[in-house]
Amino acid sequence: MQQIDEIVSLPPFNVTRASHVVLHVRDLAASKHFYTELIGLVVSDEDEHTVWLRGLEERGHHSLVLRKGPKPECTRIGMRMHSDDDIKRAFDYFSERGADARLVDVPWQGLTLHVNDSIGVPLEFCATMTPCERMLKRYDRYRGACAQRLDHYQLQASDVRSAWRFYQQLGFRTSEYTWSELDGKEQLWGVWMQRKGNPHDIVFTNGVGPRLHHFAYTLPDSNDMIRACDVAGALGYAPQLERGPGRHGISGALFLYFRDPDGHRIELFNTHYQHIDLEPAIGWDLADPQRADQWGLPAQNKWFTEATTFANVTPQPPALRVDPPDLERFLAMANDA
Ligand SMILES: [Fe+2]
Repeated sequence: MQQIDEIVSLPPFNVTRASHVVLHVRDLAASKHFYTELIGLVVSDEDEHTVWLRGLEERGHHSLVLRKGPKPECTRIGMRMHSDDDIKRAFDYFSERGADARLVDVPWQGLTLHVNDSIGVPLEFCATMTPCERMLKRYDRYRGACAQRLDHYQLQASDVRSAWRFYQQLGFRTSEYTWSELDGKEQLWGVWMQRKGNPHDIVFTNGVGPRLHHFAYTLPDSNDMIRACDVAGALGYAPQLERGPGRHGISGALFLYFRDPDGHRIELFNTHYQHIDLEPAIGWDLADPQRADQWGLPAQNKWFTEATTFANVTPQPPALRVDPPDLERFLAMANDA
């Protein structure tokens, strides 16, 4: 497939990284238990409606906000910018292009901008949060998977190419991508894009969207992945272990995926690489079994079909009608062989 990386070296404002996710959950106590006892996040603050959580190495007030709501949804995904001047430049940039950009007050955050991206994803940008103690060396407080920091999120998109163009114009660079052959042509199926210098801050894959597929926290060590599985078994969360441990082809990360009590999907991972130098993006064929897992087992079909909807956003069918290379097909072919 033709190389797709176009570099915008001087973007209109400086997005620095994926920052936080805001979720609606039905049972705040049940979700708090899952994210503190299994995932290992720390509670920064809470009231009867909301719990603000952060990873053990994070200084910012929150990377996950759980709000009590009538149905499981994602309210917004958050990104950090370098300064409030960048927030103001972004407000002007989106307003000049006719987007509904709003400067809003959000607890524990400085100047905050709300706007939707080109495929309708509700975004929240801020440059500052109330600083909290970095718990990195508080080993006495380590629990469960000992999640360190939010690294990225992955979304399903009905139009991957539109999302790629939108973020590319904001200075996001493509580290890897997936293509699928359709009607004799190679079509873009997924893009892994970054601002902070590792393989991804945000990922878009072809599917019913926009929907939040998962958000991901780093773990300090591969042994913590095994410990997370053990703790999940001990706490009764074993049925919510959806996939892994495994080794991604894209990014090279060791991974594990859980579904939380509302079905929101969280990835726990480590050991991916740096992507700082200007270098060509790496392309993968969707049909390559080692693309998703170097060890050979594909994901279950629900991996490709189930995801979290965004509040007040109606998902659209995907532009590409591609049968995913799922575990069910893999096993059927193995039985036929
Ligand atoms: Fe991921």
